[in-house]
Amino acid sequence: MTKLPKVARTVRALRAEIARYRAKHESVALVPTMGALHEGHLALVEAAHRHARRVVVSIFVNPTQFAPHEDLATYPRTWKADFAALTKAKVDLIWAPTATVMYPEGFVTKIIPAGAATAGLEDTYRPHFFGGVATVVAKLFLQTMPDVAMFGQKDFQQLKVVTQLARDLDLPLKVIGVPIVREKDGLAMSSRNVYLNEDERSMAPTLYRALKQAAKTIAANGAIPTALAEARMEITQAGFSIDYVEARNADTLAPVTSKKDGSIRLLVAARIGKTRLIDNVAVPRR
Ligand code: PAJ
Repeated sequence: MTKLPKVARTVRALRAEIARYRAKHESVALVPTMGALHEGHLALVEAAHRHARRVVVSIFVNPTQFAPHEDLATYPRTWKADFAALTKAKVDLIWAPTATVMYPEGFVTKIIPAGAATAGLEDTYRPHFFGGVATVVAKLFLQTMPDVAMFGQKDFQQLKVVTQLARDLDLPLKVIGVPIVREKDGLAMSSRNVYLNEDERSMAPTLYRALKQAAKTIAANGAIPTALAEARMEITQAGFSIDYVEARNADTLAPVTSKKDGSIRLLVAARIGKTRLIDNVAVPRR
């Protein structure tokens, strides 16, 4: 018989279940998500199984990382399918608090991240975002106290922010980055892809294609500004409005102008119709 994951809806229930693992000296991995799970999230779960005996997945659509004009109300919520997927993925425990459990009446403390969180990428277009993410992720870490926590490279800047957060606050856990999972045509999997209509969906892989091409050009010693300009052109022609297409140092997210500045990551955010998509690729080292 398939073993169903346990579901905790209060911090007390979560901690009681984790205490049972710890009493048996079992290691714990946390996979924070907002639900609407897809293969990208499930790759994090698989990676979690490789790093720890017990796997905890949190599902919480965090209101504080959405601006008033953003898609909090319409963000896909698919509990039944998520539960089935996590059962199949042999997850031990689902941490599914309500907003009032996470932010009870009188909640006022916030974490304000800097460094990667002020790199001038997502933070420029979503100024509230990393404060909301850092605060909820710190809470998820302290509620769960995992040995490792898995984050996708899909949200590359977020991965940097939470890595720094764990380091700065001396949180005794390791943040592990997991490569991006893509659809067959290259589109990075995202819970927001369901917003795309048929036309938009057919244009969406352009983001990845354009970044890949730019990465190839830069790897072959092409000029970075020219490679980025070509990518911007292709992305615009596909019907996107660009927020940014940038080349950054893969460790610090500082702007780069030459390959001498270290490993390079190309990052994009662009809007098509009502949907905002992000993606990124590494520039291969030769
Ligand atoms: P969410 O968008 O649900 O993503 C949860 C995790 O899955 C993140 O670490 C994200 O990078 C990863 N992920 C999403 N799509 C992926 C893909 N195609 N390949 C690999 N990993 C992918 O990111 C959040 O939620 C929230 O900000 C959260 C960290 C949970 C805080 O609220």
